[in-house]
Amino acid sequence: MDDDHETTAARLRERLVTYLRRSRAITSPRVEEAFRRVPRHAFLSGLSLEDAYRDDAIVTRTSGGLPSSSSSQPSMMAIMAEQLELEPGHRALEIGAGTGYNAALLRELVGLEGKIVTVEIQSDVAREARSNLERAGYPDVLVVSGDGGFGSLRGAPYDRIILTASSSDISPHWVEQLTEGGLLVMPFRFSTMCLCVALEKRGRTMSNRSVTWCGFMPLQGAYGADVTGADPRVAMGDGLYISGPGSRGLSLKLLEELLAQTPRRVSELVIPVNDFGLGGGLGTYLGLAEPRLIDIFTTQPERWGFHYISGLLDAKEQSLCLVRRDGIVVYGTDAAAEEFKQRAMEWVEMGRPGVDSIRLLGKPSGTSTEQPGRWLLRRKHYDFEIWFEAP
Ligand SMILES: C[S@@+](CC[C@H](N)C(=O)[O-])C[C@H]1O[C@@H](n2cnc3c(N)ncnc32)[C@H](O)[C@@H]1O
Repeated sequence: MDDDHETTAARLRERLVTYLRRSRAITSPRVEEAFRRVPRHAFLSGLSLEDAYRDDAIVTRTSGGLPSSSSSQPSMMAIMAEQLELEPGHRALEIGAGTGYNAALLRELVGLEGKIVTVEIQSDVAREARSNLERAGYPDVLVVSGDGGFGSLRGAPYDRIILTASSSDISPHWVEQLTEGGLLVMPFRFSTMCLCVALEKRGRTMSNRSVTWCGFMPLQGAYGADVTGADPRVAMGDGLYISGPGSRGLSLKLLEELLAQTPRRVSELVIPVNDFGLGGGLGTYLGLAEPRLIDIFTTQPERWGFHYISGLLDAKEQSLCLVRRDGIVVYGTDAAAEEFKQRAMEWVEMGRPGVDSIRLLGKPSGTSTEQPGRWLLRRKHYDFEIWFEAP
């Protein structure tokens, strides 16, 4: 690498760090310093320096048209690194090595006296992560090729475990391999939602420490989302994929018939949506309370006019309401829009709780009981109690 190249990279990296600090993704000097030190471009060969230092996720592998590996969005990595509360000397396990960039950031945070183990299920991706880490000056990060659903005994016990793929359950192996009081940070999937939760281990109970909103590709393998009972993403054909409880039993014909109509704008109300659809406090409330919730993702955005979008589908009433960035629209009858309005009003009457007031408790499967004001999600290995703390 010539000097000019590295000087340009350092300047662009500094610009990214400033952006992450100003947008409050980075909130601590130690995470800031880690982002300043690790050269993201060394983990993304073939990409221009400008692109390597944008706050964008970079897809590095696809399978069947869908992303299967990526370097996550830097702001998401920063938020999760803050949630992880890593200290020098900590031992940490990452599940989902991808390019190895995040493992290098974690290695900066635990220092020479700590240990980072990162597991990757795709063997070619693991090989690449290993060589990226060596080239970038982190040969002591241990890259393990295998299914991170089983954790890794190579560095256990761990003070911290972080998943960079989304899971709808907690593998008992992660809990076993975590020290008492240790933290598990994972993107947690339910319905169409994905929340990044930091959970503290107290015995076999995993208790909420912080929650943010995120979007991550699903965990694969023996503890993958499809195995543990989340709503899977279903390929409908024509580049359309749907997920969420509202998608059960839906036919492509009905979806196509509805989307072929001219939508009517029913509200100017602008509801925050991100690249992964509806999120925030309202999205979470709908994810917990609404059986007609649906997410639509397409690999042909030019054909359908959206890339990723959330809404309510009432198949019986032939009605589809979609939450677009510029307002709410409805196809077919008005029913789904009325239902959406009703749910939104319920959320407003609760005091418009945001993601920061979500509380989550994970207990071994079958040990939680229904309680008023709490939603109970039962998974194969863990039960999850979720509620909004009163403002
Ligand atoms: C978003 S990418 C990881 C980003 C990565 N941490 C980085 O810094 O580039 C998610 C990765 O998780 C991997 N993955 C999915 N399920 C896994 C599993 N059960 N065990 C290990 N890795 C898994 C995928 O192959 C993919 O490479």
